[in-house]
Amino acid sequence: MTAPLELPGAAAWRLDPSLAYLNHGGFGAAPLPVLAEQRTWRDAMERNPTGFLVRDLPEQLHQVRALLAGFLGADADGLVFVGNATAGTQTVLAQVGLAPGDEVLVTDHCYPAALAQVKRATAASGATLRVAEVPMPAGDQETVLAAVTARLSPRTALVVIDHVASCSGLVFPVEQIVAECHARGVPVLVDGAHATGQLPVDLGRLGADFWTGNLHKWLCAPKAAAVLQVAERWRDRIRPLVASHGFADGYQPAFDWTGTQDPTPLLAAPAAVAFFGQAGWQAVRAHNQDLARRGAELVAGRVGTTVPGGAGLTGAMRLVPLPRELTEAEARALETSLLDRYRIVVPVTYLGGWRWLRVSAQLYNTMTDYERLADALAELLA
Ligand SMILES: Cc1ncc(COP(=O)(O)O)c(C=O)c1O
Repeated sequence: MTAPLELPGAAAWRLDPSLAYLNHGGFGAAPLPVLAEQRTWRDAMERNPTGFLVRDLPEQLHQVRALLAGFLGADADGLVFVGNATAGTQTVLAQVGLAPGDEVLVTDHCYPAALAQVKRATAASGATLRVAEVPMPAGDQETVLAAVTARLSPRTALVVIDHVASCSGLVFPVEQIVAECHARGVPVLVDGAHATGQLPVDLGRLGADFWTGNLHKWLCAPKAAAVLQVAERWRDRIRPLVASHGFADGYQPAFDWTGTQDPTPLLAAPAAVAFFGQAGWQAVRAHNQDLARRGAELVAGRVGTTVPGGAGLTGAMRLVPLPRELTEAEARALETSLLDRYRIVVPVTYLGGWRWLRVSAQLYNTMTDYERLADALAELLA
């Protein structure tokens, strides 16, 4: 029997060692080998920018696309690059073709920026926003599915669903949601900002109309790297929000160049796939999920609350309910005190009328980080 490979730890990251960084979900940090790869690409680009951007880049991006399509189980012909998931959702919402009387369904876990985009798109088209409330704790996948499908109506023209929600870390049963929506003829946009790397993703199996995911969160590529996958039936309609040279040449050529940008985060993404792949993605995910659960339970135990769970509903971000009500100002003050006095980076989120700490787990974290958080809370909430 071969011994399991040892997982890399904090030494593989450049994070400030004085910090307990428990917000990988907010902004993930890229490991050193990935940053080194990005530097190599940057140096190559700066030696001959014209040759690099005009002659070499198309083939390099083609290779990155093929690798990521394999990693995500995606149809490479449907995969395009965007700067971030925000651009991915906006691209779809601006062009999906909403009409007066249509309804767009989101959940109360929807990321605020995506919600702002839905509000903008519905206001511009005369469509209506509907919100499905998904309780926390959600219990099980069936409860989540039922909460969403109960709000579908004959007027629903689009469902926007998180793959993993920001405010709660809840892993939505997206496959079942897509299947139920499609059975009713309703297209689905999946916001997969947190999914790539955190969960095994098989976009072919998922079959969503639209899926966008960041590479700079849980894949740990450098920042400003994301993908958008569009199902074949929609590819005539969806174009980048910024038109450039290839705009008239079809779906993928239109996205391939949207003006001069830094392509090095994308070019370094394969190094991120390889970095975790060496240790084994399955082992990395199992480690992060287990650490997030144990860390959250430790903190909740110390503040006298209970971590919400649910089979199949949890990943590497977990919620710790705070023991008493906090106003918005108090929540922000708590975040600031945790950072300034204790060097702990952790967000306080709001959902279902309550405030929660959202703790993340990545390979650079250890239980000591959560113990520090528990100690700090014991003082701050006393
Ligand atoms: C669910 C969700 N969607 C979208 C985004 C936006 O990601 P970005 O800022 O990289 O566009 C985030 C960021 O945290 C998120 O949590």
